[in-house]
Amino acid sequence: MISKKVLLAVVVSLASFVQAGTVVRDQVEPQQYLTIKADVEKGTISKNIYGHFAEHLGRCIYEGFWVGENSDIPNIRGIRKDVVEALKKIKVPVLRWPGGCFADKYHWMDGIGPRKDRPAGINTFWGGVIEDNSFGTHEFMDLCEMLGADPYIAGNVGSGTVEEMQEWVEYMTADIGAMAQLRKLNGREKPWKVPFFGVGNENWGCGGEMSPEYYADEYRRYQSYVIPFPGNEGMKKVACGPGGEDLHWVEVVMRKAANKMDAITLHRYVFTGSWDARIGKGSATSFTRELWVKLMENTLRIDQNIDNVVEIMDKYDRGKRVELYVDEWGTWWDQEPGSHAGFLYQQNTMRDAVSASIFLNSFNEHCNRVKMANIAQINNVLQAMILTDKEKMIVTPTYHVFELYAAHHNAKLLESELECNPLTGSEKKVQSLTVSVSKDDSGTVNITVGNIDPENSAELVCDITGISPVSVVGKVLAGEQMNSHNTFENPNDVKIEALSNIKLDGRRLTVSLPPHSVSLINVK
Ligand code: AHR
Repeated sequence: MISKKVLLAVVVSLASFVQAGTVVRDQVEPQQYLTIKADVEKGTISKNIYGHFAEHLGRCIYEGFWVGENSDIPNIRGIRKDVVEALKKIKVPVLRWPGGCFADKYHWMDGIGPRKDRPAGINTFWGGVIEDNSFGTHEFMDLCEMLGADPYIAGNVGSGTVEEMQEWVEYMTADIGAMAQLRKLNGREKPWKVPFFGVGNENWGCGGEMSPEYYADEYRRYQSYVIPFPGNEGMKKVACGPGGEDLHWVEVVMRKAANKMDAITLHRYVFTGSWDARIGKGSATSFTRELWVKLMENTLRIDQNIDNVVEIMDKYDRGKRVELYVDEWGTWWDQEPGSHAGFLYQQNTMRDAVSASIFLNSFNEHCNRVKMANIAQINNVLQAMILTDKEKMIVTPTYHVFELYAAHHNAKLLESELECNPLTGSEKKVQSLTVSVSKDDSGTVNITVGNIDPENSAELVCDITGISPVSVVGKVLAGEQMNSHNTFENPNDVKIEALSNIKLDGRRLTVSLPPHSVSLINVK
């Protein structure tokens, strides 16, 4: 194991020889280095990397968004105002719906027409509760319009028919024909724009337990009828990809169907326990330093996971036309004690926030292939942005990470290099910092940095070439403890604050980053 001291000595002696533009490093006790080439752009970070996911699961849709027009909770056409207002601040670019596992049992026609006539079904995947279909296609599209988000629809392959999928696409996007007529009767004259359509979800699991060969054939058949109508010509057809590291699935689906897809998905959930329910995934709020480190190790594997998937994609898609959508990702903990079984309701601490910063920095770094990512899920489920308790609402530390990272939306990824210490106590010698750097349209360089170390501040020295910086400001999200989180009683325990220990001297920036923190630094 590399000791911190040895690594530091190597870094310092190397650093004194490194010429960074006009900046020459010296030996002034820097602990960790970042070099940024502000004139070397490596790609564009799609804003859709900051996408979200809303499933008919627990209280994500019902209560999280939908309260109905007659609710005492302030709402617009049944959709709660406070949640929409909060989400507008993080600029939700795209929203995936209606699942998840729920997508492959969803029959869209149950969710249109007068609400009183819609059939009640049972949500067999999630909690066995009544699904009264009061939130359907029109309500979802209304929500997207309120948020200013693009809709990403997940179609039903597992238990739906080709005809049903074809008619849904027609209902949403055609201007003529029987389905368009029905939509108009239901109150929507103009077709909607649906830029993304998923052909199934986790079809290796809850979406029909298919083999990759069988799914690839089914994908080819279903997608033939996902026909974009005028105004929706660019609609991306999205094939189901693997859960984590199932590379065989990617290999087969890409080999058999790459030429018929615009994107393939990847799902990646992280925790410290096991998928085995007898063991459990771990508590969201009560954990040791060792479990903190374990989660960070698991999260950091996302880089390799993406690289492995992309390597196979490259084999069958040499022109790199097919995009990768990480359309479910995040932490997955044991449900909060006392919450409804099957609702996947969990709290969200600074550990989740730092994990999110690792994921998002990784997606940024892979922005030439990763064109969309959707954290699971937006309200009240898994690594949520928003938690509600009837009329009460709070935002989580992860919400604040999305707020900070909005600086990267559609910005140019810049070349940067990080030399940092390994995290003490990590058998896998994981890095103690995670960084991503981009330049926005105004020329501002935005640096997002997570301090993965749960106990120690990080003294970061950053040399910038390619621009002549004149000012620097920063914001930080930290909390007192590594498990700090917001509650309905104490909703602002974790919040964004100004980053005070930051200074610019010529092209050199120095900053002290608190333990277990996520920061945004803007250099002009
Ligand atoms: O996000 C919860 C579930 O996780 C989704 O429904 C499913 O796609 C995945 O297994």
